Amino acid sequence: MSATLRLFLAADPPQALCEELALWLRRAVGRSAAIRRLAPESLHLTLCFLGEQQPGAVDQIAALLGLMLEPFAAVERLAVGAPVWLPPRRPRVLAVEIGDPDGTLRALHERLTRELVATLGWQPPHGRFRPHITVARMHPGSERPRELPPTPPLRFAPSALTLFRSSLEPGGAVYTALASIPG
Ligand code: 2AM
Repeated sequence: MSATLRLFLAADPPQALCEELALWLRRAVGRSAAIRRLAPESLHLTLCFLGEQQPGAVDQIAALLGLMLEPFAAVERLAVGAPVWLPPRRPRVLAVEIGDPDGTLRALHERLTRELVATLGWQPPHGRFRPHITVARMHPGSERPRELPPTPPLRFAPSALTLFRSSLEPGGAVYTALASIPG
């Protein structure tokens, strides 16, 4: 049996938004030794985390992305929301919530989930879809900063919908884009 690949699908925020979030984050937690800020170019909005999959799944998912052009193009108006620690009780990451006022992101997520279940037999997680962009990771066992400045009131349309491979390296996960459609 060939080695599996750890895969996920994510919407890529536009570069300008990632840079604004990086500026906010530097102000918010710049001097905290408890937190590792993520590079702006690695920020993403996860839609479906697929976990370990056979290599053959890559072509199946790439073909499936072709069906998503219309529902993805409809995702035009997302909003940066409040900062949030996840999971709330013992946070491991700092994220910003993403508002989806017209429900197009949720519709895309539901469509993707249906297609992935039908194509790969993927078992989606049970919890509700809570759109967010993770911006920093906590060092284990450290205290989180008490106060965070408000996030900038930004609106955006994602620039691409991408299938990523996640490789777990000693310095943190490395993400490689395997297939993509533009927004
Ligand atoms: P995030 O989107 O909440 O930051 C690759 O690991 C991406 O998939 C990460 O950005 C990660 O979290 C998201 N993800 C969702 N569920 C996951 C899981 N069970 N294990 C690892 N990553 C997961």
